[in-house]
Amino acid sequence: MFSIQNYTVESLANQFGTPLYVYDGNKIEEQIGKMRKAYEGTNLKLKYACKALTNINIMKLMRKNGVDIDVVSTQEAHLAILAGYEPHQIQYTPSGVAFSEVQEAVALGLRMNLDSLPLLEKFGQIYGSSLPICLRINPHIMEGGTIKISTGHKDSKFGISIEQADEIYEVVKKYGLRVVGLHQHTGSDFKNAHVIIEAAEKLFELAYKYFPNLEFIDLGSGFKVAYKEDDHITDMEKLGKGVVKVFNEFCEKYGKEVELWFEPGKFLVSECGYLLARANVVKHNPGRNFVGVDSGLNHLIRPMMYDAYHEIVNGSNPDGEEKEKYDIVGYICETDTFGKDRTIPVVNEGDIIVIKNAGAYGFSMASNYNSRFRPAEALVYNGEVHLIRKRETMEDILKNQVMLEL
Ligand code: LLP
Repeated sequence: MFSIQNYTVESLANQFGTPLYVYDGNKIEEQIGKMRKAYEGTNLKLKYACKALTNINIMKLMRKNGVDIDVVSTQEAHLAILAGYEPHQIQYTPSGVAFSEVQEAVALGLRMNLDSLPLLEKFGQIYGSSLPICLRINPHIMEGGTIKISTGHKDSKFGISIEQADEIYEVVKKYGLRVVGLHQHTGSDFKNAHVIIEAAEKLFELAYKYFPNLEFIDLGSGFKVAYKEDDHITDMEKLGKGVVKVFNEFCEKYGKEVELWFEPGKFLVSECGYLLARANVVKHNPGRNFVGVDSGLNHLIRPMMYDAYHEIVNGSNPDGEEKEKYDIVGYICETDTFGKDRTIPVVNEGDIIVIKNAGAYGFSMASNYNSRFRPAEALVYNGEVHLIRKRETMEDILKNQVMLEL
């Protein structure tokens, strides 16, 4: 039987029902430890990109471990504040939001990361030099798992183009803006980790030339985790050595020890997460076998949206010798395949199917499509299990619908 810490997936499914997201909190702590170790010798600050998994208890766990937060909306910021963060520990990295939201973020006391020249101009007009700011720079580097999650290339909407450095500087001078940080994020799942060093060097050049008062350099994230055995992953230790070297050289030449920031999402929470679903039906069609489970693309959209590969295990019989090839599919009214041509131990109706690496961008991208409830979430931590989000009910589905007398 497949277990998460000391809990079999059957026992978890029986206790909380399916579909169910389960997170291993100790695994998250292990990942935090790996990052800290890789960047030893720098003044490292981790800012968890909470878009990956916004359950408030996961944020609390991050906080307990000294990890700050990166948010992309004021709603995420409110969650972080509820998780106990001080506003100054929250970096706000929006993309193309209304200025009223930026003002709300300022009022909340968040750290601002600004990503367009028009925004910089507006910000300057209203706030001048009163607040420290970070600039999101687009370094014009093509990287990331797929085009949908590549963010640092020339044709991407993100950041202020590195080619507009002079224009940035003009606005900064005009309003006396207090630029204390430079940021870049090349894209998620990068294949070539070395791009982070390439991007860092571009930021260093800007720092020397235009920004003498930096307090930090934020190198974003994008670390590739293993979705399948033998998958190419970011070798964090090796990357760390390279980054630490160039970063320390930069600090020396810059004449100041600035902080090194990263905003990991997947690296911290992807592997900790499992989506548990029950096999509703095993269908032997001519030439193809299907396992239909009680979940779908409404709960984990990554396979259908990014062609992402997630390892799938028959949690009720992980080591069975008799195997069969299946497509593991969901119950949604359009093609929603979690995994194609997977040879796994024979599945019987009622078995628990475990989809791995579901911690990042799993629940946080889930929807109510087909008017299905979103799953419950459970956290296993230090050998104990806790329900951290109840399964939705019909009330949740109806909550904001306005019933007319028609
Ligand atoms: N910082 C910024 C500014 C970001 O835009 C992102 C992710 C991160 C940090 C965290 O990146 P990570 O460590 O998770 O790679 N839904 C997609 C991923 C979208 C990533 C969006 N930005 C997926 O499921 O693959």
